[in-house]
Amino acid sequence: MQIKRAAVIGSGVMGSGIAAHFANAGIPVVLLDIPAKEGDDRSAIAKGAVQRLLKTDPAPFMHPKNAKLVTPGNLEDDLALLADVDWIVEAIVENPAVKADLYRRIDPVRKAGSVVSSNTSTIPLGVLVEGQSDAFRRDFLITHFFNPPRYMRLLEIVGGEATRPDALAAVADVCDRALGKGVVRCKDTPGFIANRIGVYWIQTAINAAVDLGLTVEEADAIVGRPMGIPKTGVFGLVDLVGLDLMPHIAKSLLATLPENDPYRAAFREHPVITRMIAEGYTGRKGKGGFYRLNRDGGAKVK
Ligand code: NAI
Repeated sequence: MQIKRAAVIGSGVMGSGIAAHFANAGIPVVLLDIPAKEGDDRSAIAKGAVQRLLKTDPAPFMHPKNAKLVTPGNLEDDLALLADVDWIVEAIVENPAVKADLYRRIDPVRKAGSVVSSNTSTIPLGVLVEGQSDAFRRDFLITHFFNPPRYMRLLEIVGGEATRPDALAAVADVCDRALGKGVVRCKDTPGFIANRIGVYWIQTAINAAVDLGLTVEEADAIVGRPMGIPKTGVFGLVDLVGLDLMPHIAKSLLATLPENDPYRAAFREHPVITRMIAEGYTGRKGKGGFYRLNRDGGAKVK
């Protein structure tokens, strides 16, 4: 099978970045999100995401000349667009029930034999396909892109027992050849490879810094540049990823890791993060995060 047209569902941090990366590679892409509640334009969420991709701070995610390859829409009025694409990437909220509900909606309208993949950070494939049709299970896999998708070269791919080998091969091929990714095939284990290690390490750094009363700058001076993340540091990385994603990842890992797993202790809820999320400090996509950069160009927030 060949992948010539794609769709991405969820136009948040990852979905918009993945759609931009398709467009930059010359692959036409439909970008759908939930319908907007306010205003006349029901596709305002996905359209707003496309506009943000064209901003130049913190980095140019999509070349303006490629914007015409992205068709933004909403999941109620534009579902029929999915009948025309070879690969649908799901990048919505990290919640298995919400993802399962979406899969049941898209399965009847998608092109027969098209591939569907989830960008989940942690949810095992076996959980994601529970209760889905046999055809869906055959066409489904996990493609875990890293943030930001344009620049992070790693991609984890996970197939399930039922996944068609040619679907896995086609996705791996287009990711390698067209999207420039180093593709790693992972087993269907909690957090796959990178998040099993990476999120543990991020959580441990945050818990330790808060408990020791370090400032964000002091902590990042130790665990940022010296440990290989020079531009953002650990705290800046969490701002980029989105603070609100952290409890979802922790919950998902805690639900699947064995009771005696030594990683579990790192995933406790931290009151500082809970309070920041409640107050809208979800990182760059919100009012700012540990650092005051936000998505509208790095303005300082009061
Ligand atoms: P986000 O919160 O930035 O965006 C989620 C988008 O999904 C929003 O635009 C929201 O309106 C939309 N949405 C919510 N419910 C929906 C529904 N029922 N149907 C359709 N759209 C819906 O989330 P983010 O960070 O982009 O994460 C998306 C997925 O990617 C998650 O599974 C996450 O675990 C994974 N991921 C996130 C990374 C990150 O750095 N943020 C890195 C790698 C994976």
